[in-house]
Amino acid sequence: MKRVWVTGGAGFIGNHLVRYLLHTKEAWEIHTIDALTYAGNLENLADVLPHPRHKFHKVDVADREAIQNLWEKAPPDAILHLAAESHVDRSILSPLDFVHTNVLGTVTLLEMARIHWKGRSDVLFYQVSTDEVYGSLAEGEFFTEGSPYDPRSPYSASKAAADHFVRAYGHTYGIPFLISNCGNNYGPYQFPEKLIPLTITHLIERKPIPVYGKGENVRDWIHVEDHVRAIALLLEKGKVGHTYLIGAESPRRNIEIVQLLCDLYDEITGETCSRSLITFVKDRPGHDLRYAIKPSPHLKALGWRPQIPLEEGLRQTIHWYLSHKEWLDSVRSGEYQRYYELQYRERLGS
Ligand code: NAD
Ligand code: DAU
Repeated sequence: MKRVWVTGGAGFIGNHLVRYLLHTKEAWEIHTIDALTYAGNLENLADVLPHPRHKFHKVDVADREAIQNLWEKAPPDAILHLAAESHVDRSILSPLDFVHTNVLGTVTLLEMARIHWKGRSDVLFYQVSTDEVYGSLAEGEFFTEGSPYDPRSPYSASKAAADHFVRAYGHTYGIPFLISNCGNNYGPYQFPEKLIPLTITHLIERKPIPVYGKGENVRDWIHVEDHVRAIALLLEKGKVGHTYLIGAESPRRNIEIVQLLCDLYDEITGETCSRSLITFVKDRPGHDLRYAIKPSPHLKALGWRPQIPLEEGLRQTIHWYLSHKEWLDSVRSGEYQRYYELQYRERLGS
């Protein structure tokens, strides 16, 4: 049996990945390793917690002793490393949290791999990364695997540093690794601090929808299940030491996404004039203007294609949030209220 660690498995992308691996890889044992920060939620994994091939461990990836203990009990054959502080706005408010988890956490795992995987070529450290490491694009340009790193927020700098450490450990110590960089994910279970779930929750509650600046910034959107399918494929068939760009070729201006969500929401619920909730607010400092991805040709050659068109995925996502109001209430209780106040009180005057 192959034992796979999924770090950050109680978060947004992680829970979809854990579920997908349990359902598709019948010989594998999946270990979720997650510190359960504000973004990690055991309810996200409720249906797979009792699964006989799934084990959950509440551990901080930067805690060397705890990771060492876990390694002795359940040594992995592959690490799918997703655990991270993932929100750009929070990285602007408190960058050190991002250094702790994204940099120190990654290097802690790499250190364990260096010690325990010595000489093994049948193992893999898979780093799940972001297109934000490449910086901002001008109109008509695209990120490719060869794009130079140019991170410009504390979040993207911490992810870029982690990617560099992964490559450095591969080069210096021979640890088999693979990195994939993906664009903006959306779908069920995304924490409501991010643009799409924030917009949907404000639509449900008829609150002003904050759009930074003029809403001209472009992000390249992909449904989380399409991302997860790509990761699972690359885990088995990707070339060791390579970098893959994952994207669904759906770049949109933020204002277009928010308007589309308003229109879909009205169509689904019979509500009217949701667009009137859109409120342009003070911009994010250092806000990257444009991201757009050319997915790796090798990923396409392996047969991967995004299967969920943007509008269909957004419609499904609205339905999911409408039918998971208890989940929303539970993840927004406590710490989120403090963050929301800090981030939006001045912007929205509420
Ligand atoms: P998320 O914030 O929803 O989840 C992160 C998870 O990591 C949470 O469960 C949290 O509890 C856990 N975690 C945080 N600090 C930890 C620590 N010190 N030790 C152990 N666990 C810890 O994030 P997400 O959106 O699911 O992103 C997952 C990964 O994918 C991240 O590495 C992110 O950089 C990357 N990524 C995300 C996107 C996106 O659009 N969401 C796009 C590309 C890449
Ligand atoms: O590109 C991949 C990245 O996408 C991931 O690596 C990150 O983990 C993920 O958080 C996401 O980063 P973004 O900053 O692009 O996501 P966010 O949803 O925060 O913002 C999307 C766009 O919407 C961005 O241009 C900022 C804007 N925005 C965001 C919020 C929260 C608003 O206009 N208003 C808002 O209230």
